Parts: sequence; C-alpha cells; structure tokens
Amino acid sequence: MLFVTGGAGFIGSNFILSSLEVSDEPIVNFDKLTYAGNLHNLDSLRGNARHVFVRGDICDRGLVKQALERHRPRAIVHFAAESHVDRSILGPAEFIGTNIVGTWNLLEEARAYWTALPSAERDAFRFLHVSTDEVYGSLGPSDPAFTESTPYAPNSPYAASKAAADHLVRAYHHTYALPTLTGNCSNNYGPYQFPEKLIPLMIRNALAGEPLPVYGDGQQVRDWLYVLDHCAALRRILERGRVGQTYNIGGASERKNIDVVRALCAVLDEQQPKTSRSYAEQIQFVKDRPGHDRRYAIDGSKLRGELGWAPAQTFESGLASTVRWYIDHPEWVEEVASGAYRTWVETNYARRGAA
Ligand code: NAD
Ligand code: TYD
Repeated sequence: MLFVTGGAGFIGSNFILSSLEVSDEPIVNFDKLTYAGNLHNLDSLRGNARHVFVRGDICDRGLVKQALERHRPRAIVHFAAESHVDRSILGPAEFIGTNIVGTWNLLEEARAYWTALPSAERDAFRFLHVSTDEVYGSLGPSDPAFTESTPYAPNSPYAASKAAADHLVRAYHHTYALPTLTGNCSNNYGPYQFPEKLIPLMIRNALAGEPLPVYGDGQQVRDWLYVLDHCAALRRILERGRVGQTYNIGGASERKNIDVVRALCAVLDEQQPKTSRSYAEQIQFVKDRPGHDRRYAIDGSKLRGELGWAPAQTFESGLASTVRWYIDHPEWVEEVASGAYRTWVETNYARRGAA
C-alpha cells in the first residue's frame, strides 16, 4: 500500500493513474481538495478498489495518524502543497501552513508510525518527498545547471516554503534515521495541470480567443519535463534510491518562456487552426512577476548515473500530446475554470496591465 498526499492535484493524479497501470499495489490518496485538487482527474478509477480516497488536511495530525494506522502503507509519497508562485506572492500564509507546518506534521506522524513497525517493515519503509528545483534560486545565463549540492537560495515565498520542507525532511533522516528520499524536479507540464500555470493557461486562453500574458521580457528560462516522466522518475527513486539522498529530476529541455509560448501557438495552429491567423497574434507582454527567477536548469546526472533513469518524451512530443489533451478535454477546463478561478485571473492579471 502506498500513501499518497495531494493525489487529486496535477502531478499526484498523474502519479496515481500511471502507478495503477504498472502495478497492482493499492494507493490511499490523502487530499484536502483545495482549489487545485480535483477528483475528476481520477474519474477513470471509479469503482476501482485499489484507489482509496481520504479527504484530509496534512495539518490535521489526528487524521493523518488515523489514516496511517488504518491503511498501514509501506511508503508515503508526499505531493500535497500549495504550488503556485504567483499565489505565494499575493498570499504566503497557506504556503507556510501546508508546505512547512503540514510537511512537519506528516514527518512527525510518519516517524511515530514507522518507529512502531515490525523490523522488516521498518527497514522497507520509505518517505518520498516531492520537491522542486526552485529551492536553488536563479541561475545566470552561463552558470552550470543545479546539482544536488548547489546551495539553497529560494527567492519566492513558495520556493522558501519548499526549501524549509526539504530541510525538515533532511533533518528527520539525519536525527531520527527516518528513511527519506527527496526528488527536486524542474517545471512539469501535461494533462490535468490547473490553468494557472504557464502552459495550460496559455492553451486555455489561446482557445478562448483571450490574450496570452507573457511576464516581463519573456526571456526567463525553465527546464521542462513531461509529467509522466516525473512520475516514472519518482517510482524509480522510491524503489532504488539510496535512503537519505536527494535526486534532481529534469528533462534537459531548457526553453525561454517566449519560445515555449510560440511553440505551443505553432502546435495549436496545426492541431486546431484558426482561419488564416496564428494564435501567436494573441501574445501580449505584461508587467513582470516581482523577484522573477531568471533561469532554472537541472543537472540530472546523479539520477541517470545511479538509477538509470531518463525521460521518455522530448519537449516537442510532450507539448504536442499536452495540447491534444486540452483540445480533447474542454469540459475539464470548463469545470476547473469556475467562479473562484475567474476571481484569481482578475486579481493576478488586472494588476499587471500591459508591459
Ligand atoms: P497542485 O497544486 O496541482 O496539487 C496540490 C494538491 O495538494 C491538490 O490536490 C491539493 O488539494 C492538495 N493539498 C494542498 N494542500 C493540502 C493539505 N494541506 N492537505 C492535503 N492536501 C493538500 O500541485 P502539483 O503541481 O501537482 O505539485 C505537486 C507537488 O510537486 C508539490 O509539492 C510541488 O511543490 C511539487 N512540484 C511541482 C512542480 C510543477 O511543475 N508543478 C515541479 C516540481 C515539484
Ligand atoms: P509557472 O508555470 O507559474 O511556473 P514557475 O513560476 O513555478 O516556474 O511559470 C512558468 C514561467 O512562465 C515563469 O517564468 C513565469 C512565466 N509566466 C508568464 O510569463 N505568464 C503567465 O501568465 C504565467 C502563469 C507564467
């Protein structure tokens, strides 16, 4: 049994769906269902006894304890987090609550549960913490990519809260010998990503005939990884990773934001052509994000060398299948783009105006 937190979100739901395809092992999905959690992502598992959903907040110690004792997992895979940088800039409180205090609660309950296990189960137990490359801060244009020993220098409240969580995970291994593993991954994209993040927001706006808001000069670089490749990397780390280690996970696909937006307009022009005009005409430069990190890049040689993992998708193949998925699932986008979503879009973009 795996105990997954945040399994109704973007990466968590892709992890559950893909894990149940490759293994018979049941999964408990412990999720608070914030604005970012959506059980429709898991509709294909309705009636599947191998997926057990528990609605709960990782800040609720009693509920976490009860769920662990009831389901007796062999591992915890911890995705639950507030995950959007712009939201963390407008309101950091929930990031401190879930990402720092929530992770600490989970570590405490995991430790109590693990300590009481019989010795063979204790040895096999793992706590896999899902984190981000944003903890390392921002790179200059010719700096070497982030390695696992790059010093932490988080710049946004989101990145700082994930960095704090990473440090707690590290401390629980060092101090209490809790068998932890951490993955620090670059930007993900793919099906079921909430349309507040760059790629799904741009696809949604393009299809709705709305502006495509590129922050600042659009020259910021992110290292993109297709979500199912991230999920496969996490399974590899869970099964073969060395206890106490951290692994950087990336797609070796550095792209400037403006090039990502142009590339996805070109894919849309091909897959859903508009009469004689390109979606690229909808691009609009808007006021930059405060403290905007310039460049992220992952050196993935440790994961490749030690655990033999490499991504299956290129950026081009992953982007084409992601665009296809959003075109084929307008009802999913429609449903998540609810009243609360519209309020967010008004708050975030109205204050930016044109650049
Ligand atoms: P997401 O925002 O799509 O989903 C987060 C999920 O966590 C939601 O289902 C939400 O309901 C749940 N959740 C939030 N607070 C909770 C709480 N207090 N208790 C229980 N559940 C709670 O996020 P995502 O993009 O799927 O990211 C998942 C993890 O991966 C996060 O830890 C994030 O930091 C990390 N990560 C994301 C990316 C990326 O590009 N999206 C890259 C690297 C790492
Ligand atoms: P995002 O998907 O929010 O991920 P992160 O900030 O965690 O990297 O943003 C990816 C990049 O795209 C980032 O440099 C900010 C930029 N961006 C825009 O230019 N316009 C937008 O509307 C959004 C949401 C992001």
